[in-house]
Amino acid sequence: MDAANLDRLVDTDRVHRSVYTDPAIFELEMERIWGRAWIFVGHESQVAEAGQYFATTIGRQPVMMTRDEAGGLHVLFNRCAHKGARLVGEGAGRADKAIRCCYHGWRFGLDGRLLSIPMADGYDGTRFGKGCPEADVQPLSRAESYRGFVFASLAAEGPGLVAWLGGAASSIDNMVDRAPGGDLEVTGGVLRFEHDSNWKFFVENLNDLMHPMVVHQSSSLTARDVAKAELGPEATMPPALQIIAPFTESYRFFDEMGLHAFEWGHGYSGGKTSIHAKYSDVPEYNAAMEAAYGPERVAEIFAVNRHNTVFYPSATIKGPIQTMRIVKPLAVDRTVIESWTFRLKGAPDELLRRSILYCNLINSSANLVGPDDQEAYRRQQQGLRAEGAEWVAMHRDLGREEDLGEGHLYAKGSSDLAFRNQFRAWKRYMAGVA
Ligand code: FES
Ligand SMILES: [Fe+2]
Repeated sequence: MDAANLDRLVDTDRVHRSVYTDPAIFELEMERIWGRAWIFVGHESQVAEAGQYFATTIGRQPVMMTRDEAGGLHVLFNRCAHKGARLVGEGAGRADKAIRCCYHGWRFGLDGRLLSIPMADGYDGTRFGKGCPEADVQPLSRAESYRGFVFASLAAEGPGLVAWLGGAASSIDNMVDRAPGGDLEVTGGVLRFEHDSNWKFFVENLNDLMHPMVVHQSSSLTARDVAKAELGPEATMPPALQIIAPFTESYRFFDEMGLHAFEWGHGYSGGKTSIHAKYSDVPEYNAAMEAAYGPERVAEIFAVNRHNTVFYPSATIKGPIQTMRIVKPLAVDRTVIESWTFRLKGAPDELLRRSILYCNLINSSANLVGPDDQEAYRRQQQGLRAEGAEWVAMHRDLGREEDLGEGHLYAKGSSDLAFRNQFRAWKRYMAGVA
């Protein structure tokens, strides 16, 4: 597809339906967006010790994050240098001193270097073998960690990770700062949830504040009504209800949360308030935070109550509840969403229990809220087959965003700013300018 045709698919206020339905556009996205942007790989806590690895994918490329003997962190292609076998299975594992390929037994260090080949003298006098760079497991072009969050890029050129994250990095800061011990740790495995829809619906939905009170009516409003009937109107809401009830707050509430947008498609909603702002205090946690940071700084940290932050295109976090959702596109109409849970080091277990409860109730494949959204994406995927209505709207409050400087835009929560901002980045990547 040539540049002029691509350019015509995205206006400032609308996008053509084919960006969600055309397999050829999906292939181009794999190359120009997922092959260029910084993509989330994993968290450093998953490879805290030498010999540990964590295998995942970037677009459709198998990769692994490893920790070598000297403590070095690497992001390598998960592919044997001999005849190409995938070296380790997806997920976390431990290789101790070497990764041994299952096929012919070549052994590689956790830094990717070839250590040994059975009957290695067979390679003497050839152009391959130990010491030859192509006989090592190949590293990705670039890998960087921001406060424990490891991203990698398949492209050799482009902005550094910190510059690319821009103002959205402050959401990672707030999530980490919420740990009295100053650090996070991934706990347990991941919950995988396969969607039969395009990946962009998910990253758009997270900061679409005109949908919760409608699509989550059946789950959230029902939970509120049942609780009121069973517990009485004055009762303190149990933790599960504190989590579910805010999804059916009013239009005004979501409008006041506000939207923030940054370069490269990143953004978040909420700030002073959000659906996470009214969870009950945990006194031991507050005490641990005050001991670590002092009351003034703690007040600043707790005053930031962001809803979803999207690091476009692959990673999304919820700082106040310490969860993360990762986007893995499989095909134009198939996407895996993974949900991860973090433990705040130095915090009482109750915080972790709340994060797990949140993931189970809202993000898991058997939850109460996520399937509402999934049904909406499925219907979008189906509805956009319709010919004769070619455009998807994102006109709301066009031109009414405020420019806060340094690429930071702000709008009220009901604005379509997040959509327009993501497609601005989409267009830039797809034009090959990134
Ligand atoms: S493919 Fe890995 S050792 Fe042969
Ligand atoms: Fe939703």
